[in-house]
Amino acid sequence: MMIASFKSLHFLLGLFVSLKLLALAQEENHFIYHGFTGADLLLSGIAKIHPNGLLELTNTSKRQIGRAFFPFPFQFNTSLFNNSRSLSFSTQFAFAMVPEQPTFGGQGMAFTISPSVEFTGAVAAQYFGILDSTSNGLPSNHLVAVELDAVPSPDLKDINDSHVGIDVNSLISNKSSPVTYFSDEEKENTSLSLISGHVMHAWIDYDEVEKLLNVTVAPITRTKPTLPLLSTPLDLSSVLLDSMYVGFSSSTGAVASSHYILGWSFNRGGQAQTIILLVAISGAAYIIKRKKYEELREDWEQEYGPQRFSYKDLYKATTGFTDRKLLGSGGFGKVYRGVLPSSNMQVAIKKVSHDSKQGTKQFVAEIVSMGRLRHRNLVQLLGYCRRKGELLLVYDYMPHGSLNWVQRYQVLRGVASALLYLHEEWEQVVLHRDVKASNILLDDDFNGRLGDFGLAKFYDRGANPQTTCVVGTVGYIAPEVTRTGRATTSSDVFAFGTFMLEMACGRKPLEPEQSAEKMVLVDWVLDSWKIGDILRTVDPKLEGNYVVEEMELVLKLGLLCSFSTPQARPSMRQTAQYLDGNASLPEMPLDGASIGLIAIPTQSSAVVVESWLNEGDSLLRMGQRNLLGQL
Ligand SMILES: *[C@@H]1O[C@H](CO)[C@@H](O)[C@H](O)[C@H]1NC(C)=O
Ligand SMILES: *[C@@H]1O[C@H](CO)[C@@H](O)[C@H](O)[C@H]1NC(C)=O
Ligand SMILES: *[C@@H]1O[C@H](CO)[C@@H](O)[C@H](O)[C@H]1NC(C)=O
Ligand SMILES: *[C@@H]1O[C@H](CO)[C@@H](O)[C@H](O)[C@H]1NC(C)=O
Ligand SMILES: *[C@@H]1O[C@H](CO)[C@@H](O)[C@H](O)[C@H]1NC(C)=O
Ligand SMILES: *[C@@H]1O[C@H](CO)[C@@H](O)[C@H](O)[C@H]1NC(C)=O
Ligand SMILES: *[C@@H]1O[C@H](CO)[C@@H](O)[C@H](O)[C@H]1NC(C)=O
Ligand SMILES: *[C@@H]1O[C@H](CO)[C@@H](O)[C@H](O)[C@H]1NC(C)=O
Repeated sequence: MMIASFKSLHFLLGLFVSLKLLALAQEENHFIYHGFTGADLLLSGIAKIHPNGLLELTNTSKRQIGRAFFPFPFQFNTSLFNNSRSLSFSTQFAFAMVPEQPTFGGQGMAFTISPSVEFTGAVAAQYFGILDSTSNGLPSNHLVAVELDAVPSPDLKDINDSHVGIDVNSLISNKSSPVTYFSDEEKENTSLSLISGHVMHAWIDYDEVEKLLNVTVAPITRTKPTLPLLSTPLDLSSVLLDSMYVGFSSSTGAVASSHYILGWSFNRGGQAQTIILLVAISGAAYIIKRKKYEELREDWEQEYGPQRFSYKDLYKATTGFTDRKLLGSGGFGKVYRGVLPSSNMQVAIKKVSHDSKQGTKQFVAEIVSMGRLRHRNLVQLLGYCRRKGELLLVYDYMPHGSLNWVQRYQVLRGVASALLYLHEEWEQVVLHRDVKASNILLDDDFNGRLGDFGLAKFYDRGANPQTTCVVGTVGYIAPEVTRTGRATTSSDVFAFGTFMLEMACGRKPLEPEQSAEKMVLVDWVLDSWKIGDILRTVDPKLEGNYVVEEMELVLKLGLLCSFSTPQARPSMRQTAQYLDGNASLPEMPLDGASIGLIAIPTQSSAVVVESWLNEGDSLLRMGQRNLLGQL
């Protein structure tokens, strides 16, 4: 029924007005959608068309498939009538991928030419809803696809997290490339991130005579670059059958994006027409933008008005949470540096993943009350923002610096006084539970400021209630915490002791690459003290520039705080007094068995490891844990 250049058919179909548009398209072997309102596409899976004409292949539900195909097959390899068989085709479409969380999205979508729209057995994730592991690679698939893939799947030899691939019968691409476009003005290639949420254009052109398949991608604001991204020799004569459907198949995996098509044109045997998206794009841009900046906001939050930041502002402040702005990442999440657009203020923004169903109201109330904590050595919490599955905390930002001893000592005194404030001087006892070097920031005057307070409590709540969640970082966790799962002011003191040793010795509490005697910092300091040479552990970067009395005080106090029995440790007030020189350090028994790290009981390690598995850097931590077990 679809015959190229068969003029009389044109006339006949002209009589059937309702069929006319479709017929014209078929007769001329092309179609164009400047938006999909009322479009008669074959939709399957979770694909849908929004009233404004936006075609949504998938939303952010995990492990889903969404497809949209042109309702009639095209005749690619038939030589009926005038012998005008042609395998050439050209297509152009505008698409956008809006990830659930700004830096994680998947899986992607594939422009697909296939003999049927029944993809029996096809699975989601890396198979895009067109194949599965058993059908992958079979010549009988007669499948051509161009994948826009946002997740590197090693089993399919994917190259990276934003690539285009040309696939023939298999999702192991014949050819692939990271997504870039050639700018004709600047004469250079510019990288694009598929999951930026921005609308992009893609062109796919196949010429039967040249036997070349070209793929070109560019931002929607650009015209088609003269150089394609991929230009791959490919003979499709044994692949394309007489009758083939064209369309899109998209999938989500363990990470998900909403996948959209905004406009699409196709031409079998000629150039695809340029799609004009003016109507669709404003509506689509609105939906995409809304999704991109989508927040959760409930009535009860109104009372926290001033402490609430808009996601859009935070997104702009960090230029879309790019890796360039990443300050660090740890157990609780990633921290980004940013400048608030409204006030030009420098901030640090922490992203914490959070199951929004659990205890959010209480947590936000706590966060806001944390915002009332005021101490010159605490990092000031400015406010928060809430999205689905994600919480963003906005702090004062202080750049780091390299420290001499005078500054280090000042930092220790400052942090000690901040902890004292949290433990004893505020209206409630606040446990920090994750005191460590990376949670201490410096202000312009080299005052140490303690960040991240109170987060641990929240983290507990978000975790699986069946597992006792031991929070903190190896080397800083007091032994009784691993046993009981309960943190106390003494366990904060323990962590502060480790931090003191770290500042004095200029190294981490555990350094697996060190020799056995030096590997565990507290052991190394203790052993050195026993042989009367505690100063051999001092940070060599200080080049001997320090006050010996202060250094000895810090090292010994560090050991004292690391005692395995909580009762033997000083309180935070005593610790601060020793550091301020208001009290002198008591004599300590040189008995290694009473000191912290060595005594972590092995039987509790299962619980510890289990709870660490919830965190991103679990492998590293398990590695350290195992090392500890061997000591
Ligand atoms: C995605 O779409 C499906 C089908 O329309 C719906 O059941 C599901 O709730 C949607 N998921 C999200 C996250 O919106
Ligand atoms: C067959 O089609 C081609 C291309 O459409 C056209 O140039 C040619 O004149 C046609 N030949 C006949 C015999 O109709
Ligand atoms: C993809 O990998 C290439 C190197 O293989 C790298 O140059 C490029 O920046 C990567 N792109 C993304 C978006 O990660
Ligand atoms: C593309 O992949 C198919 C299937 O693996 C293979 O048969 C074909 O030879 C490949 N073509 C090129 C040009 O690499
Ligand atoms: C840009 O990318 C294309 C396709 O990957 C490549 O052929 C070309 O050499 C690149 N040009 C520059 C200037 O890097
Ligand atoms: C594909 O790209 C090459 C290199 O730019 C070009 O010579 C060729 O004409 C293009 N083919 C098609 C069908 O666009
Ligand atoms: C396509 O047509 C050519 C010429 O008629 C034929 O040799 C080839 O086998 C056909 N390919 C397929 C996959 O049917
Ligand atoms: C130590 O004494 C000074 C001077 O009396 C006082 O300002 C400071 O707060 C004291 N430090 C502690 C931790 O009590």
